[in-house]
Amino acid sequence: MSQYSEEIKRRRTFAIVSHPDAGKTTLTEKLLLFGGAIHVAGAVKSNKIKKTATSDWMEIEKQRGISVATSVMAFDYEGYKVNILDTPGHQDFAEDTFRTLTAVDSVIIVIDIAKGVEAQTRKLMEVCRMRKTPVIVFVNKMDRDGKDPFDLLDEIEEELQIKVRPLSWPIDMGQRFKGVYNIYEQKLDLYTPSKQYVTEKIEFNDINSPELESHIGDTLAEKLRSDIELIEGVYPEFDVETYLRGDIAPVFFGSALNNFGVKELLDCFVKIAPSPRPIQAVERVVEPEEDNFTGFIFKIHANMDPNHRSCIAFVKICSGRFERNALYKHVRFGKQLRFSSPTAFMAQKKETVDEAFAGDIIGLPDTGNFKIGDTLTSGEELHFKGLPSFSPEMFKYIENADPMKAKQLNKGIEQLMDEGVAQLFTNQFNGRKIIGTVGQLQFEVIQYRLLHEYGAQCKWEPISLYKACWIESENQAALENFKKRKSQYMAVDKEGRDVYLADSGYVLTMAQQDFPDIKFHFTSEF
Ligand code: G4P
Repeated sequence: MSQYSEEIKRRRTFAIVSHPDAGKTTLTEKLLLFGGAIHVAGAVKSNKIKKTATSDWMEIEKQRGISVATSVMAFDYEGYKVNILDTPGHQDFAEDTFRTLTAVDSVIIVIDIAKGVEAQTRKLMEVCRMRKTPVIVFVNKMDRDGKDPFDLLDEIEEELQIKVRPLSWPIDMGQRFKGVYNIYEQKLDLYTPSKQYVTEKIEFNDINSPELESHIGDTLAEKLRSDIELIEGVYPEFDVETYLRGDIAPVFFGSALNNFGVKELLDCFVKIAPSPRPIQAVERVVEPEEDNFTGFIFKIHANMDPNHRSCIAFVKICSGRFERNALYKHVRFGKQLRFSSPTAFMAQKKETVDEAFAGDIIGLPDTGNFKIGDTLTSGEELHFKGLPSFSPEMFKYIENADPMKAKQLNKGIEQLMDEGVAQLFTNQFNGRKIIGTVGQLQFEVIQYRLLHEYGAQCKWEPISLYKACWIESENQAALENFKKRKSQYMAVDKEGRDVYLADSGYVLTMAQQDFPDIKFHFTSEF
């Protein structure tokens, strides 16, 4: 037990994730309203880059500006300190979202009742599963017609590969939506469209009471009873420990736009969601309540203004207390650093803070000291493991378009990769540099930023690649043989690890068959 236990235990640091348009922004805003962090609806601007604006630079820059302000939204609620970490809506920045997930202790997934599980949600859930992050599902837009709730739960279990347990249950939907039965609190929450709050909350310990009919009518009362009976029969009883292990996801239904079911979600969330969890470092497991400060950089946000090139490095505090102006060790540099203006993000305003605790996120102004994954400590030689890089989905050769600026180009590429904008592979055969990204937009971002921040010009040349896989083998001779045979397709990543560039799925399958001693990995950590 540490002197900071009380502070640390009341923290709830989480992210809301969804496929674009499911209602993440709307839900976030409603949570902030409850927390008193904002006072009017519409204060949180969606940080999604509109689908049409794929190469509208002003738009992207504007959006980036907004997303710094809303990167972390913190507020106090019923004695809890809630930290919501925002994630980019645009799927081309999925890698950013993955990294943000390394800094949270739990996740709320928003699913649109009409659309069900969508591509982006599936990918994000994969990351949560890998890390055993506890997940709560909020099924949104119940004021619209959508899928049958039981079918949707099956779909979630199947597609997201997680067991679910409804903690609230909708009474009809769309224009006939009457509200939800809150299984967790055993209350009936009645809904009136556009009221922005639950119209009536009725204690309902016994769902068999005939009073139910007087509220929702005979047919719906009968249906609700049989639905609840089915739920109790089919789904295991809700157990917080199972949720905390990431083995079961409680499900809530509601309508974020109508502010219906949101407070119920928040009330349950603060009670059951984990306070900061222990984090595995290379050397040992770090407990949040340890006295000494430790933390890691999970995101670097560059200011794209060429006149004041500066960044904010986002630190997740893993243990203890962070103090302004104290000396902390930058482990990769083996150097002590002092931070005079760390910022926190309360009520959407950035402000300098004197202290912060495990679970909190602080922003450190930076001029190039940090890269993603860097560890800061009170002195201990410790390395937090970052999130592995995933094999990118798009690849291009990057070439220098201005021979006078080769140095600037290389520096720019290196720094952008440190920031985690994309991944760099160097082909060992011809020495050419290949940039791998998850979306087309990143190529444009890189080109733009190289020019505006580093005065370097690059051009892209096509390369037809299917996947980059990290390879290893216990059999050194087999590894050398593979590298020789595939020499044209061998590259190294930024850390110097061997990467095999497969130009088609077929070639990759053949390679896996022909070289059984070689292990092919699709993420950089194995
Ligand atoms: P995102 O951040 O996940 O991308 O979604 P966002 O909250 O921006 O919501 C996407 C659209 O869905 C918005 O409409 C929003 O108003 C709507 N929406 C969110 N929750 C609900 C709900 O419970 N019921 C209904 N019917 N709609 C909901 P939009 O027209 O795209 O944007 P806007 O012009 O209203 O901002």
